[in-house]
Parts: sequence; C-alpha cells; structure tokens
Amino acid sequence: CAVTVDARSGTFAFDCAPGETLLYAGLAHGLTLPHECATGTCGTCRARVMSGEVDVAWEEAPGAAKLKRDKGDVLLCQTRALGDCVLRVPSDVLEKPVRHQIPAARHGVIENLRRLTSDVTHFEIALAEPMDFDAGQFVVVEAPGLQGARAYSMVNHGSGLDRIELVVKRKPGGGFGDWIAGPTAEGAKVEVFGPLGRATFHPDEDRDLLMIAGGSGIAGMMSILARAGEEDYFRTHKGYVFFGVRTLADGFYLEQFARSVDRGHGNLEVTLALSHENLGDVRHPEHGGVKLAYGFVHEVAAAAMAGRYDGVMAYVAGPPPMVDGAIRSLIIGGVGRAAIRYDKFG
Ligand code: FES
Repeated sequence: CAVTVDARSGTFAFDCAPGETLLYAGLAHGLTLPHECATGTCGTCRARVMSGEVDVAWEEAPGAAKLKRDKGDVLLCQTRALGDCVLRVPSDVLEKPVRHQIPAARHGVIENLRRLTSDVTHFEIALAEPMDFDAGQFVVVEAPGLQGARAYSMVNHGSGLDRIELVVKRKPGGGFGDWIAGPTAEGAKVEVFGPLGRATFHPDEDRDLLMIAGGSGIAGMMSILARAGEEDYFRTHKGYVFFGVRTLADGFYLEQFARSVDRGHGNLEVTLALSHENLGDVRHPEHGGVKLAYGFVHEVAAAAMAGRYDGVMAYVAGPPPMVDGAIRSLIIGGVGRAAIRYDKFG
C-alpha cells in the first residue's frame, strides 16, 4: 500500500507491505516518525488517519488510552494499512537525517542464555543479517507463541554485528521474562526490528556522562560505558553511573563496573542504589570500585549530583515511574531537556 504522511516538516511517502505496521514501514523507509516504545505502551506514535482504511492490532494498548478515536487517531505501532492511506502526524518528521541508523526487520535465534541473578537473564540473538547500531539503542523482539512485542536495549554496540546481547528481568506475570527463563527459549526463532532509540552516545559530543538506570535498563548504559572505554573517554571527561536494584543480591554486571572504574582515571563513579536494603554508604564488599547507597535510584542520584550537573549529558532508562522521577530531578537540578536522553518502554 502507498502511505502518505503529512507532518509539520513536510509531506513524505512510503510503501507498506501487507502485515507490516505503519510505524515499522515508515521507520524502515528512513523517516523519523515519532515513537518511543514501538510496542503500544507510550502513546508517542499517535497519528490521525485522514483517508484510507486501516486495521488496529491491539485496541486496548495502554498507549491508546488518550486517543481521539472518533477523529481517526491511531497508534502507528499498532496499525496496519488495508489500502492506500494518508496520515497526519502532529510533529516534525525528517527523512534519513545524519547519524540515523535505519531500522529493519530480521530473523534471529536465541542463544547463550545465562542467569545473572534470580530474576535477570542475559541472552544473545544471532541475527540472520548483520546490524549496525550505536551505543544506547534498542530493538523490538517478537517471540513465538507470545502476544505482542517487547523492547530491549543492547548491551553491545558496533557495525556489521551478527549478534546482539540483551538482558531481561523477570516480572510478575511477565510473559517474555518467564518464557526466556524457561526450557524452550534456547534456540528459539524470534523476529527482531531495529535498531531504534535516540538515547545514543557519541564521544564527539564532548560532554560528561550521567547515567541513571533501574533493573534491566542498565543494558544500554553498559554499551555506553563500553563505547566510552574504547575512546578512553574518562581520561578527559567525568562519568557518573547510578544503577538501581532492590537488594545487594539483585545487582549484576558489578565486575564490569569495577573494571570500568579501575580504568576510569579517577573520573568515573559507579553507585549501586538499593531501594530495599540499607547497608549504609559503603563500598561493595567484593567489587570495591562500586559504591552502595540506600534509596530509589533517582533520589540517590539527585542527592549525589546536586551542584554537579554542569556540562553533563544525562541518560535515563528503566521502569517508567523511575524514568519520570529521574527526569523531574534532572530538570529541577537545572539540566536542560536537550541534555536528557531516554527511551521509555515498560
Ligand atoms: Fe507506539 Fe509507543 S505506543 S511507539
């Protein structure tokens, strides 16, 4: 089907294959259509169908709660075209801007599952076709027999990679987290769409780094830390990482953090914020480079960073309430919106 998009910045056209969502088709064409989660939860991909027929896959998607359906509003990530159509998008759209990795759909196979804590699993997806992606980006994964898609940030980054590394936290009633921890995940075929996400790190931006993450949101921060390490970035810049978990036993990637701190020229600080265990403000018993603090990660970060926000680029990832709390504290602390990067998916 031929799709026309009227945006504030102009009019664009692309083709949409049968069964493909309008969001995926537009993004794969190189358009920067508005989106955050790509999975129906955030509501950012709102558009109005001006003409043509469409099919909505998930009417009850949380992101659809505020849509004016009687006016033809839809979520692009949940909608497929049934024929040629015209959409209006209430924001600026660009076509193939610089530094933009154009996403595409790929087949993949789940491999190398590894338990990191009682409820966190690290796994890899071997891709049928290689992918280029920046530190901080994510993909959307669809698994067999599981309804809907999930967004996960890559722990790795690079060009022409035929393997992506991801981490998932098991949540109560969480379909994918349960499935990945079960016996059928290793070797399973999945569908991957990406790379997505604008919370990316580029060393030439020349800013100090502040990273605030909760649970499996730390994945993207690991890729940013790795990228920074490749450039020996902390020789000349400060870095602050705040990683929120419930208790000490829920912490993971601590060895990698300790190693990064060792190589950080005294300019990298990593704090593990424990929301449900008060061990005082001490060093981690095994990984001495990592500090411990008691409290919710965004509050711990706000207290530790007061007066030190100058010149930082802030990256935030985790459960939506944590992301909202962190962004609020950053803004109160004087960090401009342009210096806050996040992708909210929950
Ligand atoms: Fe479509 Fe989030 S609801 S991008």
